[in-house]
Amino acid sequence: MHQDIDKILLSQEEIELKSAELARQLKVDYEDKQPILLGLLKGSTMFMADLMKHLDIDLQIDFMDVSSYHGTSSTGDVKIVKDLDLSVRGRHVLIAEDIVDTGRTLEKVIELLKHRGAITVEMVTMLDKPEARIAPITAKYIGFTIPKAFVVGYGLDYNEKYRNLPYIGILKQAVYLENE
Ligand code: IMP
Repeated sequence: MHQDIDKILLSQEEIELKSAELARQLKVDYEDKQPILLGLLKGSTMFMADLMKHLDIDLQIDFMDVSSYHGTSSTGDVKIVKDLDLSVRGRHVLIAEDIVDTGRTLEKVIELLKHRGAITVEMVTMLDKPEARIAPITAKYIGFTIPKAFVVGYGLDYNEKYRNLPYIGILKQAVYLENE
């Protein structure tokens, strides 16, 4: 697995320090809001665990699994594979994401949560790839801004592999070419 990585972009230590820092910020902003911390499966799982460990406030967690259908439409559409268990009506929702890329998935999820009566919907993402953005989405809390490269590790996959890497790295080109 490690031999497939061209370059480590963010080390385990850098990521751990950043998630603790983000949690400190969130603690101040959400201390009295009893938020729902919502993870989007499967990429956000490691980030969720790191955030939760450091976020010692009253909160509930939930998960959603959505898949995007971009097709020919420029806005794309989203299919809910697994919905939340909790109701978001009257709640403050904080979506935890591994990476914001085109922003199309998040745009649809935010629209849905607001439609269901969430009071506020904000996003916390470990990685932001602003150059790839199509939908007008801005996460309020961002770990690292990265260039438009395909990254794996810390929950992020290529063909469902590499999610368990504790760091974030750029895959060797040969790995893509093998699969083409
Ligand atoms: P988008 O912002 O709707 O385009 O989709 C974001 C999702 O695409 C993320 O939650 C990831 O699952 C996936 N994704 C985007 N960029 C990368 C990447 O560089 N590596 C792995 N997955 C990615």
